[in-house]
Amino acid sequence: MRVWNSVEQWVERRSALSAQTIGFVPTMGALHRGHAALIERCRAENGIAVVSIFVNPLQFNDPKDLDRYPRTMERDLMLLENLNVDDVFVPSPAEMYPQGCRFYVEEASSTAIMEGLHRPGFFKGVMTVVLKLLNLVRADRAYFGEKDFQQLKIIQGMVNDFFIPTEIVACPTVREPSGLAESSRNALLSAAGRERAGSIFQVLTSASTPEQARTQLEACGFSVDYVEDHWGRRFAAASLEGVRLIDNVALPAGTRP
Ligand code: PAJ
Repeated sequence: MRVWNSVEQWVERRSALSAQTIGFVPTMGALHRGHAALIERCRAENGIAVVSIFVNPLQFNDPKDLDRYPRTMERDLMLLENLNVDDVFVPSPAEMYPQGCRFYVEEASSTAIMEGLHRPGFFKGVMTVVLKLLNLVRADRAYFGEKDFQQLKIIQGMVNDFFIPTEIVACPTVREPSGLAESSRNALLSAAGRERAGSIFQVLTSASTPEQARTQLEACGFSVDYVEDHWGRRFAAASLEGVRLIDNVALPAGTRP
């Protein structure tokens, strides 16, 4: 496995790869079983498996959130080696934004709701960095998790509208036994909080309306940003112990908005 810190060296390596299909999994590190599922699929479906680790400052609207985002580079690299990844791209912010950030990607509809509404600038940061990464890797396929379903939809839209020749592959959400979606942020919860956080999934699955789900989450001690139905799914963002968690589930057929 080779680790690339410089854009220039990665670009040189990329131009030497031509005959094989390239699969790509962009991440912000602090890797867990959810990331591993994407990477295993990427590994199985492509000749070359590329993973990036970049905690993208542009998608954090709160500097405190950026500071406390978990960073576990040594463990991450060991995991990637065990998963037989070929190349890991780990740029610094100065490599990704050498002139600062002069150009941004914006979107005018799906980013106005849910995460876009509650985290101003978040999707602008995500789309801008993902466009840069897709241009650098020029993958045949890139893998994204349904855990971040709104992000997945927006990236699918960007790739479609900008004619980016990479297929976006959607992968199902990996969960802990309690139902809690695997997330790098789960490490910030206490053991008891982590167990209780499984109720987001239970409530999203069992409540009959978004309003009922909100009431039930509040009764469990969550501070709720939103519960909303879109694209045949129910979405929630809620905080526990000051840790903001998001999740979504497919609504049963027949009840879809
Ligand atoms: P990150 O949160 O590290 O997630 C990287 C990828 O792993 C995303 O596609 C995400 O949806 C997926 N993922 C995370 N938890 C998952 C789970 N429990 N089950 C399945 N997939 C899961 O999302 C980002 O990073 C960033 O916004 C990024 C796209 C890398 C741009 O900076």
